[in-house]
Amino acid sequence: MNIPQELLKKYNVPTPRYTSYPPANYFHESFSNDEVNKSITLSNLEQPQNISLYIHIPFCNKLCFYCGCNTVICKEDNLINSYINTLKKEIILLKSKLYSNRKVSQIHWGGGTPNYLPIENIESIMTVIVDNFDFVSGAEIAMECHPWHLTYEYVDQLIEIGFNRLSLGVQDFNDKVMGSINRNKSVIPIAELTAYIKDKNVSVNLDFIYGLPFQSVDSFSETIQKAIEISPDRLVTFSYAHVPWIKRAQKKLEKYGLPDAHEKVKLFETAHDLLSNNGYQAIGLDHFAKASDELTVALQEKTLHRNFQGYCTRETTGQVYALGVSGISQLESSYLQSSKDVLKYTRSIDDGNLAIEKVYFLSEEEKITREIINELMCNLYLSWDAIANQFKVAKSEIKNISDSLLQQLKTLEVEGLIKYNESEIFVTEVGKFFIRNIASAVDPKMQNTSKNFSKAL
Ligand SMILES: C[S@@+](CC[C@H](N)C(=O)[O-])C[C@H]1O[C@@H](n2cnc3c(N)ncnc32)[C@H](O)[C@@H]1O
Ligand code: SF4
Repeated sequence: MNIPQELLKKYNVPTPRYTSYPPANYFHESFSNDEVNKSITLSNLEQPQNISLYIHIPFCNKLCFYCGCNTVICKEDNLINSYINTLKKEIILLKSKLYSNRKVSQIHWGGGTPNYLPIENIESIMTVIVDNFDFVSGAEIAMECHPWHLTYEYVDQLIEIGFNRLSLGVQDFNDKVMGSINRNKSVIPIAELTAYIKDKNVSVNLDFIYGLPFQSVDSFSETIQKAIEISPDRLVTFSYAHVPWIKRAQKKLEKYGLPDAHEKVKLFETAHDLLSNNGYQAIGLDHFAKASDELTVALQEKTLHRNFQGYCTRETTGQVYALGVSGISQLESSYLQSSKDVLKYTRSIDDGNLAIEKVYFLSEEEKITREIINELMCNLYLSWDAIANQFKVAKSEIKNISDSLLQQLKTLEVEGLIKYNESEIFVTEVGKFFIRNIASAVDPKMQNTSKNFSKAL
């Protein structure tokens, strides 16, 4: 696919990643505990069916220079043990706020590096969850793992505890790239680890990043070819988000030089084409799944959904309740983010209060915009009628797009990024590369914003 240079130039501008709507830099600190408690009570009544739990383990052994996650480099058992105890208290505190008929359909462990914890810690936290919540049958239990720490024994124990999805952060197979980002390779080769896990009927995802120092089309296509041979169920190619004003260690990568927008798109195109020609379906912005995968089926049925943790189906996900430092609960009408500071978080939970530090309460209009953006980003398609039905409002009310937004849609169509008519918007093949820009065109907040975002490409 050939992407015109002028589009790359025009659209490689600061743009939200839209992992949430509104984006996290709109969350604010002016709220009362009463408002937080009311919003959790309300969540029991809004889309009450399922509960998704997100458990944030911030600890890592060593900092990868590209890292954009909320991490604490820690080798102190005391701090880790105290964190585990606090997490257990938080689970019980959260449970006391949720209606008892609600069941868990999804648990996602992210970080940091959850598998940096001794397995006994994982097991004891899961025991507290199992003792306090009912589960739907076949609930999804997933963990983001750094393969460097994984042993066969640890994998076996995770599976015994109930994990049925493991994601391995590979990032790249090239030694020079891995050296520049200060990242240790897997001790067990990824091919053997993946085969071992798949053999136990556990789904495997591999994470890669493009846009890192020393990556070239040749080197990255070697990496992706190797990944295809390994044959994971799913694979993600994240666009490297360079935000050195937030993550200072990322500055260290600048001395090697980073691929520019044009080179980054070439890297993504290479991966996209290789994967598409070898049995993987592109899912949303950067995910790929095998044809038989439930994400591929959901995409075909236009029922793909997503939350902070990635793409999912509406069946598996529920409102997300986050546990641990910096975790963001994604409820129907609010976002609640916990403190990023381990000590503040611990103190608050010890006092019997959730450690919420930032919030956002959504208006009805913002919920509609969130759904529009989600539909475009997940299903590359939007039906105004479907949105109107879902929100039980007249279509004319939703399509009440300002003239300038309408003008942007016209421009996107002329540029070949979308097709649209009275009832629908379709994102084109080229448009997929600019999906964040397309989303920002239907985002009223982007009309006049002074917020800082990473670049779109
Ligand atoms: C929490 S980490 C996964 C678990 C484990 N800590 C690891 O590194 O393997 C989540 C994923 O986010 C991605 N990631 C981290 N920083 C990023 C950045 N600045 N831009 C894009 N992706 C990033 C990496 O691909 C990483 O595998
Ligand atoms: S990429 Fe993973 S292992 Fe590396 S610092 Fe970030 S969270 Fe830790």
